[in-house]
Amino acid sequence: MNASPVIDVADLTKVYMTDEVETHALTGVNLRVESGEYVAIMGPSGCGKTTLMSILGLLDAPTSGRYDLAGEPVAALDARRRAHFRNRNIGFVFQSFNLIGDLNVYENVELPLVYRGGMGRAQRREKVAAALESVGMLHRVRHYPAQLSGGQQQRVAIARALVGDPAILLADEPTGNLDSANGEKVMELLAQLNERGATLVMVTHDARYAAHARRLVRLFDGQIVAEQEGRRGGGSAQSPDAERN
Ligand SMILES: Nc1ncnc2c1ncn2[C@@H]1O[C@H](COP(=O)(O)OP(=O)(O)OP(=O)(O)O)[C@@H](O)[C@H]1O
Ligand SMILES: [Mg+2]
Repeated sequence: MNASPVIDVADLTKVYMTDEVETHALTGVNLRVESGEYVAIMGPSGCGKTTLMSILGLLDAPTSGRYDLAGEPVAALDARRRAHFRNRNIGFVFQSFNLIGDLNVYENVELPLVYRGGMGRAQRREKVAAALESVGMLHRVRHYPAQLSGGQQQRVAIARALVGDPAILLADEPTGNLDSANGEKVMELLAQLNERGATLVMVTHDARYAAHARRLVRLFDGQIVAEQEGRRGGGSAQSPDAERN
């Protein structure tokens, strides 16, 4: 039994207000993720997956509920402190890669370390090289994003998410803009990173990709409705092939 989970969320709610409309995107989410876990989140469009990831990733604040990240209560932080915490604890991989087009591969991956400060150029170079090496992109440091394939861009985005040794790596449909061959490569890479110790939470629509995870969480209408062991969880693991989204 692990004493302190990386993510510990209780009764989390999120209400979006737009004009006259109130959307209850999350209606009481409870989730604990221990260090070294690999969790896949699945559920139909609009069920709150991105909302949950944005809150877990400190891009947004919940309306109510408790969120402890690496032992620190973060639910009520203001935007500035949230950004500070995010920089140190979270690596985020988006569906659309989100690399900066004017910066080359090296500069894109270095950026989070520059923002964070407190690290000299030589130390940054070492970290960037290690991160790019771990995703097999060290041979493309001088390329710009537009000169890379989609799969390569996503591997660079993963290196950028990893470079600061975050407590947790969050990925919201990281294969959403990739063909199946590149998608499978990115998934294999994430699984390898997890085997080497990275803690991973990933949203996916695809049951084949969810099968890479050790644990599968199903979200429906803003709530977690089921949990099961992923295929890699071993033993009596139930196949998640029933997903129809
Ligand atoms: N910024 C926002 N303002 C108002 N409503 C929002 C906002 N973001 C999301 N919503 C609403 O909250 C609900 C959950 O949206 P969310 O993006 O979390 O769904 P999702 O599960 O990620 O869907 P998808 O699989 O299509 O990406 C939806 O009803 C959506 O319309
Ligand atoms: Mg989404």
